Amino acid sequence: MTRYFRDYPARTGDRKLFKMEHYLELYDELLGGWQGRDVSFLEIGVYKGGSLPMWQGFLGPASRLVFLDIDPTCAALALPGTVVEIGDQADPAFLDRIGRAHGPFDLIVDDGGHQMHQQIASFRHLWPQLADRGLYIVEDVHTSYWPGFGGGLREPASFIEFAKDLIDRMHSWYTEDDAGFPLHPLAREIGGIRFHDSLVVIQKRLKEAPVAITAQNGQVVRSRRMLEVRGRRSIF
Ligand SMILES: C[S@@+](CC[C@H](N)C(=O)[O-])C[C@H]1O[C@@H](n2cnc3c(N)ncnc32)[C@H](O)[C@@H]1O
Repeated sequence: MTRYFRDYPARTGDRKLFKMEHYLELYDELLGGWQGRDVSFLEIGVYKGGSLPMWQGFLGPASRLVFLDIDPTCAALALPGTVVEIGDQADPAFLDRIGRAHGPFDLIVDDGGHQMHQQIASFRHLWPQLADRGLYIVEDVHTSYWPGFGGGLREPASFIEFAKDLIDRMHSWYTEDDAGFPLHPLAREIGGIRFHDSLVVIQKRLKEAPVAITAQNGQVVRSRRMLEVRGRRSIF
């Protein structure tokens, strides 16, 4: 496994990097397969600009690297080969402009203001700009438990509750309650959701209805019957 992110803090220059330490090991684990690939990348939150060289050194040389921040002084922190856009991550018009100008993205990291309405608005408006098999990463989701950020335990408006709801939407293929739990369009778009300490990762995976297979003696039979069956306790 790569140690790129774990080893990175000791290699920083004069730009300050601001991350939870355990994200670095997680990024080595989660993103190892992306190392050196030419991709389209977006990070919300520039602060002192310390993450720009980190992502630039990890991704391929032809990558498109876009960063955004609400603080106009961050514009001066752009590096050659990167773009820094100034605007509010909760402003739909700004996010739509970012999408039109620079999308679609393979990786999106939200390390911005960490307020509930910001994380949710950014996800809603940037998710359509995430490419198939791309990852949408939200850092510092512990703010979902902080009232000062609009959070609180089981607070319905928190990002954590929003993300838990995505779990249901992803599984809405399998609903037996078409009225109370209808098929949601995100069932066709979410491949997986990972909850880590303070970090949520949502994978885009454009797909048709899941298929069950039976296989024996090399003969594979595919069926979507499980999605047609209603009133059963289990398909198995
Ligand atoms: C935690 S820092 C970013 C750290 C940086 N990504 C790093 O790894 O070193 C958060 C940044 O989010 C920015 N921010 C706060 N509210 C924002 C908003 N509504 N829209 C865009 N950026 C915002 C702040 O100005 C600040 O620079």
